Amino acid sequence: MIEIKNLTKVFGSQISLDNVNLKLEKKDSIIIMGQNGAGKTTLIRSILGQYIPTKGEITVNGKNPFKDRVNTLNSIGFVPQLPPPIKLTVEELIYYSVSSSNINKDIIFDFCSKMDLDVKQNLKKVFFKLSGGMKQKLLISIALAKDPDIFIFDEPTANLDPKGRDSFYSILENFNKDKLSLFISHRIEEVSDIVNRKIELDLGKVIIDEKI
Ligand SMILES: Nc1ncnc2c1ncn2[C@@H]1O[C@H](COP(=O)(O)OP(=O)(O)OP(=O)(O)O)[C@@H](O)[C@H]1O
Ligand SMILES: [Mg+2]
Repeated sequence: MIEIKNLTKVFGSQISLDNVNLKLEKKDSIIIMGQNGAGKTTLIRSILGQYIPTKGEITVNGKNPFKDRVNTLNSIGFVPQLPPPIKLTVEELIYYSVSSSNINKDIIFDFCSKMDLDVKQNLKKVFFKLSGGMKQKLLISIALAKDPDIFIFDEPTANLDPKGRDSFYSILENFNKDKLSLFISHRIEEVSDIVNRKIELDLGKVIIDEKI
């Protein structure tokens, strides 16, 4: 589903990804680990077509994510490490997701309630004024409701309270397994029940890629 060949990404004098080669297949559920600055988010952004590779290439379902951004993003449900400063209200953001990605509104509400987010009380609030955990819960609920081929979560539980984390992982345990899921996380114990492969980056290189 995702093929990465000789991917190098350099920012100025900083080598963020250094000749990365990976084949990520359907039904893989992967934890991506590595120290701060190892290149995890750069890898994800490259997959999402946000960065042009300095060298090498990426294909997502056979397509170049930079050149074919719309199709690439249609097949991916993504939750970023830092929620973007969206100026829409919660209601407008949900409406936007429903209309742009053909997501069912009731399914978003359903996931929000499973994540303990009282979305109906907050519909008129501007997204960026929600608490960190509330933003994360809403973005997670929208990504789950999209039911894409590929899930990418960049430290999704960093802002969640323990109950929110439990709800998130228990939803995923019961999700259709016929997908590719990528979790960036520093806490392998949290995801050990739902991942089957571990990839570790260090200084932009893949140093571990193993089944677990
Ligand atoms: N847009 C950018 N411009 C310049 N340098 C960047 C950019 N994005 C990332 N980098 C650099 O690339 C390196 C890897 O950053 P990245 O965000 O991929 O790390 P990470 O593994 O996600 O770390 P963390 O665990 O802290 O989230 C860092 O040295 C960072 O400063
Ligand atoms: Mg990161």
